[in-house]
Amino acid sequence: MTAAIIDGKAFAGEIRERVANQVARLKEMDIVPGLAVVLVGDDPASEIYVRNKNRQTEEAGMASFEHRLGEDTEEQELVELVRRLNADPQVHGILVQLPLPDHIDENLVINAIDPAKDVDGFHVINAGRLATGQSAMVPCTPLGCLLMLRDRLGDLSGREAVVIGRSNIVGKPMAQLLLRENCTVTVCHSRTRDIADVVRRGEIVVAAVGRRDFVPADWIRRGATVIDVGINRIDAPEKGEGKTRLVGDVQFDAVKDVADAITPVPGGVGPMTIACLLANTVTACCLSHG
Ligand code: GUN
Repeated sequence: MTAAIIDGKAFAGEIRERVANQVARLKEMDIVPGLAVVLVGDDPASEIYVRNKNRQTEEAGMASFEHRLGEDTEEQELVELVRRLNADPQVHGILVQLPLPDHIDENLVINAIDPAKDVDGFHVINAGRLATGQSAMVPCTPLGCLLMLRDRLGDLSGREAVVIGRSNIVGKPMAQLLLRENCTVTVCHSRTRDIADVVRRGEIVVAAVGRRDFVPADWIRRGATVIDVGINRIDAPEKGEGKTRLVGDVQFDAVKDVADAITPVPGGVGPMTIACLLANTVTACCLSHG
């Protein structure tokens, strides 16, 4: 068996096209959806994400507001910026790029964002709404994973789903979304005993641990659908001195011989995250205009 490769890049392109059409219709009513992205410090991975987000926001016809603050920015200064963005009618979505420097309390900053503008879905109100089955802003990476799973498998009801990783950004909201789809959901983490046996139960496996090659082929049930959220940058001397390349959390070459379908890295989950961010921003804009 060789798995089908789920083309996140193409799927994300379709979503971005739909978003651009919605933006064009809003512009006919003199409404321009706006996304503000805040970056604190100069983490190189965050720099790349933020640059891509800004470019794709503009390509979709939306307004992009970029705010760059120094590594030593005070927590209060950041909260004040968030409050100004909350009050700005041109801004419909606010994203504070994580991680923040250690001296800043991430929860405090995230919870300062107006929940209606929280296009990351990280505010405790949105997390609570998702967990209690109410309409919520849904975090972009798990939303992208869910769209790919639904596209591949159709109805997910009753399926055994295993999520590896319990972060607030991916693992926990992914589990909530799969539960909302009536999956039987198991969440594994660093303290899980007999993790191989647990993961082997999954008809759906979502790997979000942030460790390259963490998931070997003998953890994967034959015919499973595998979503690899990992984006790990490694040295690639074969591409030249000092070059790097991206790899996932799953041992792709081995797992593709066992799984029914798998997302590649790059070109799987990554492009879907930004496409869902743009879609969430248009949704926030539409809701704000009634
Ligand atoms: N850092 C890594 N992923 C994300 C994300 O989806 N949103 C934000 N704000 N920061 C991140």
